[in-house]
Amino acid sequence: MANDYIIKDIGLADYGRKELDIAETEMPGLMALRAEYGESKPLKGSRIVGSLHMTIQTAVLIETLVALGADVRWASCNIFSTQDHAAAAIAAGGTPVFAIKGQSLVEHWDYLDRSFQFEDGPNLILDDGGDATLYVLLGARVEAGEDALISVPKSEEEEAIFAQIKKRMKESPGWFTKMRDQIKGVSEETTTGVHRLYDLVKQGQLPFPAINVNDSVTKSKFDNKYGCKESLVDGIRRATDTMMAGKVAVVMGYGDVGKGSAASLRGAGARVKVTEVDPICALQAAMDGFEVVLLEDVLETADIFITTTGNKDVIRIEHLRQMKDMAIVGNIGHFDNEIQVAALKNHKWTNIKEQVDMIEMPNGNRLILLSEGRLLNLGNATGHPSFVMSASFTNQVLAQIELWTKGEEYKNEVYILPKHLDEKVARLHLDRIGVKLTQLSPEQAAYIGVTPEGPFKPEHYRY
Ligand code: NAI
Repeated sequence: MANDYIIKDIGLADYGRKELDIAETEMPGLMALRAEYGESKPLKGSRIVGSLHMTIQTAVLIETLVALGADVRWASCNIFSTQDHAAAAIAAGGTPVFAIKGQSLVEHWDYLDRSFQFEDGPNLILDDGGDATLYVLLGARVEAGEDALISVPKSEEEEAIFAQIKKRMKESPGWFTKMRDQIKGVSEETTTGVHRLYDLVKQGQLPFPAINVNDSVTKSKFDNKYGCKESLVDGIRRATDTMMAGKVAVVMGYGDVGKGSAASLRGAGARVKVTEVDPICALQAAMDGFEVVLLEDVLETADIFITTTGNKDVIRIEHLRQMKDMAIVGNIGHFDNEIQVAALKNHKWTNIKEQVDMIEMPNGNRLILLSEGRLLNLGNATGHPSFVMSASFTNQVLAQIELWTKGEEYKNEVYILPKHLDEKVARLHLDRIGVKLTQLSPEQAAYIGVTPEGPFKPEHYRY
């Protein structure tokens, strides 16, 4: 179909292509998969619906899937994260894509729906945060008559998804059930999406196998950590140009994203404090040299507040009311419910520029809110650098190959890629940065109970 895309401006395709060419030089894992599988095309026959931030790095992922034989349609998983020149390059290359930076929530679900519209529907999902999976499963439940689900839309977000489900049901009765039954599996990119999948298994509601890409070591211990280490401060700087050295910053959560975020702010010279609920992560933060505090105790003194928890209602309205004038507030976790932004809607908002708002509080203090509480490294900047995304996306491609070629060997559960593939992903990234790997002698390998080729660690090792 001609012009099977919705993007900002196809005229941006040349610019996108130039940046894609540069990104390829920084994504050795994906390029190695193209070299290894470009001829055998293991994804031939697959129809992949992708719901993941439509960035330059994702464009390299999409072109890798296509080079391996897949038919692909794409939507972004966040309303602010699209890079319009990346979307344009993908559209110009002939892959249908539906993503515009700053799209509305209604458009978000409409675009996701469009990305499902292969002639025969998709047979694989590549998800980030679980929206594509949610769309099919929720739709199928509504189709099955579970009306209670649609009677009380709670948030703007829920209203938008249910409206889209009803629209699709009217246009194509039985569609969701058909889609659910023909999907062979999903590979999930992020912590929050993975939580949703394990919940579905617990409820006996996961209808196809899932691969948890997030918990490959070469994903969460790199993208979540070293990625945020680069992209958090990038987002704050592009949004505010504030001087970070000397400022007091509070990072809520000290998981993988929190560790990277705290390191990012420290690297910029901020004095960083951390809040945690988990004693292990709190102890880690303290021993990494961060003061671990209660949010309530630093509201009036801190300058920058960043949520990284994947939890909801972490910064609540009573917290926002106590912050100092011109405090910067942002989130780098997957969803926008970490900060109670909805409770600010009746305050005076002044838009400074795209994804930066100044909000006047009842006591006269002003807050600078980034990306309306949505993940700011992708809303205010361009997400993680290509090199670290190469590791994440190499796992994604391996997961898609696994689901497509061996899907029937998997049960309807959540799996992690085997360690030898995790090590392979890391290995593919060593040359680019001049890493020299020491070779184990057979005697040494036998002594520590491994083979000289690896895997080098038992499953329970935590890195
Ligand atoms: P994680 O589970 O490793 O870390 C979250 C931490 O927050 C945990 O240590 C937990 O104990 C803590 N926490 C939970 N509730 C809390 C509360 N009320 N106050 C303080 N601490 C609290 O998860 P991870 O991998 O760090 O991911 C966090 C979020 O970031 C997820 O939503 C994930 O999907 C998202 N993510 C975002 C990325 C980005 O580029 N913006 C990249 C990767 C993940």
